Amino acid sequence: MHFIPEEIDEYVIKHSEDEPELLQQLNRETHQKILQPRMLSGHFQGRVLSMISKLVGPKQILEIGTYTGYSALCLAEGLDPKGELHTIDSNEELFKFQRKYFDQSKYGHQIIQHMGDALDIIPQLHLKFDLVFIDADKENYSNYFNIIIDKLNTGGIILSDNVLWSGKVLDTKFKKDDLATPALIEYNRILKNDKRVETVLLPIRDGLTISRKL
Ligand SMILES: C[S@@+](CC[C@H](N)C(=O)[O-])C[C@H]1O[C@@H](n2cnc3c(N)ncnc32)[C@H](O)[C@@H]1O
Repeated sequence: MHFIPEEIDEYVIKHSEDEPELLQQLNRETHQKILQPRMLSGHFQGRVLSMISKLVGPKQILEIGTYTGYSALCLAEGLDPKGELHTIDSNEELFKFQRKYFDQSKYGHQIIQHMGDALDIIPQLHLKFDLVFIDADKENYSNYFNIIIDKLNTGGIILSDNVLWSGKVLDTKFKKDDLATPALIEYNRILKNDKRVETVLLPIRDGLTISRKL
């Protein structure tokens, strides 16, 4: 989904940082071997995540939705040298693939994988986070927000992916089995109105919201 003309998209990528070699490999292997490779953040959004993480300099990062580990490695680029990144995914089949790439990076020892439902795992993490990336099941975005907001340090950042959902957030009628679109519409409304955060929704890729805890 392109929200801006394709030529402008290409120009934007051309004038942004190149995709690191390891991430190019991860991207390729995900496309060759793993179902639904579209889920991977990809070159441009990956560089955005890396840049935001470097600006924040987090000691603790939480990622909800690891998939093949692409965005975890981008976010890890900004980690404090003594920091940790906790990443959660319910698909246990991806564990080894993720670890292989984490261990090839210089952040392997700082990345902690958690397998299972994020709604069960997050309450067990007795940590305060500086940066959270929400990129798992869209139906639970509001639930994730509610359970992480008290675990976020003041000034901490929540990044929420796919908040434009290919533009479907403009829809007013939904298919019976489409739970994601109304959930994202509600989530975007919640972020805009919650006085504990200030929020900007960026039309990057499928929509990326930055919320900063006040
Ligand atoms: C869009 S992908 C994540 C992409 C990854 N952040 C990236 O940019 O490369 C979403 C992932 O969330 C995981 N997921 C879905 N529901 C989940 C849940 N309830 N708890 C934990 N992980 C979940 C899926 O298994 C999938 O790997």
